[in-house]
Amino acid sequence: LLNERLKKIEKEVFIMAEKMVKISEKLKGNVARSVNPYGCKQEVLNQIDYVKKQGHYNGAKKALIIGGSSSYGLASRVTQAFGSGADTICVAYERPVKDETMLGTAGWWNNIYFKQEAEKAGLIAKNFNGDAFTKEIKQQVLDYIKDEFGGQIDLLVYSVAAPKRVNPENPDEVWRSQMKPVGKSVTGYNVNLEKNELFEQTVESATKEETDATVHVMGGEDWELWVSMLKEAGVLAEGFKTILYSYIGSPVTYDFYHEGTLGKAKDAAEESSHKIQKNIDDLNGKAWISVSKAVTTKASVVIPIFPVYCIALYKIMQEKGTHETPIMHKDRLFRDMVYGNKPEIDDRGRLRPDAWEQDEDTQKKTVALMKQITPENFNSDLTGYATFRKEFMQLNGFEVDGADNDTVDYDEITKLEP
Ligand code: NAI
Repeated sequence: LLNERLKKIEKEVFIMAEKMVKISEKLKGNVARSVNPYGCKQEVLNQIDYVKKQGHYNGAKKALIIGGSSSYGLASRVTQAFGSGADTICVAYERPVKDETMLGTAGWWNNIYFKQEAEKAGLIAKNFNGDAFTKEIKQQVLDYIKDEFGGQIDLLVYSVAAPKRVNPENPDEVWRSQMKPVGKSVTGYNVNLEKNELFEQTVESATKEETDATVHVMGGEDWELWVSMLKEAGVLAEGFKTILYSYIGSPVTYDFYHEGTLGKAKDAAEESSHKIQKNIDDLNGKAWISVSKAVTTKASVVIPIFPVYCIALYKIMQEKGTHETPIMHKDRLFRDMVYGNKPEIDDRGRLRPDAWEQDEDTQKKTVALMKQITPENFNSDLTGYATFRKEFMQLNGFEVDGADNDTVDYDEITKLEP
């Protein structure tokens, strides 16, 4: 009898062990290869908490966020929902769970847990997981707005960072986004988060085709398509606002960003904002470009050389008390500027919450610090590397404040759907 009982217990323990999956951080260069869903959940909760602590503001009531599953897009969604009480729709392109060793992407979990919390608060939170560049997804979102979302939206945030886009008029043509300088090659240091190394990198100049392709992917073409489709269908509310996030940064990064392929795409997006503005004038609408701060995201950590600028910048901004994470930056953008009475607008009509990054003394000190960084000292208190690395880990649910669980219940989490 004892033997039988022991066998039964052994079997139960085995079944339990099968269900529980232990997760550890895995990186390949600056790309995450593992995710902790519970950590992502806590990270979403922390962002919600941050916004709630800032209090209520009168922002959007019905918001569509394209690219709303991580970093700047997710932060935009969290501030609308929990700062302004908005119902939200998110379009994002995330990987679901494959098996115990591949638990999908962080954005998959962010969407699941954001939705749970929004629904608890009595808000609608609809997630579309698919390619925002396609006509099919656009149509599905339009149908949903008409049939189930009250018929109109008053805010569209365009926060996509994508590696490629299929030409919607020719499925055989695929544009691939490149992060390269234009007209010159650039050499500088970069960090390898996997190996904790600083290494020298040379990035060759983009070809004309590569630059054009990047503009197709990361410029404003698709933003224009979204707005014109929704406008034609009559689902944009009076006073509708739309916003796309651009970047200028420091002159020390111009070669590979502002004046590189991505910068060309951002210039094109600015042109798009003017076209969109004309299109929504009759609704008393507003199309904004918001020049944003450099932050640690899945997209930014793979930009050549850029991380080294970040680790210098963060150190200086932390010393000055101006360093921001995406939720801090976007909450301030919407609360104070888009819907508040403290908009900082430049002579080209762009919102400039990046003024703290651009501050003269901040830039002077950042550039001076960058010159001191070497492979020997980059991972020390001299720089903001520890912050940069921690923020990167947090994107994937590791090292999240308030989360200490590195074992997830596989059966439980795989039942969840965004
Ligand atoms: P991210 O990688 O964290 O987020 C990108 C989002 O786009 C995710 O929600 C992803 O699911 C979605 N996405 C990618 N391909 C898609 C597709 N085909 N269809 C639908 N959704 C798709 O990137 P991050 O850094 O938050 O970037 C968002 C925007 O902010 C970009 O336009 C970026 O250039 C801009 N920005 C970023 C800065 C930074 O330092 N990270 C600074 C200034 C601007």
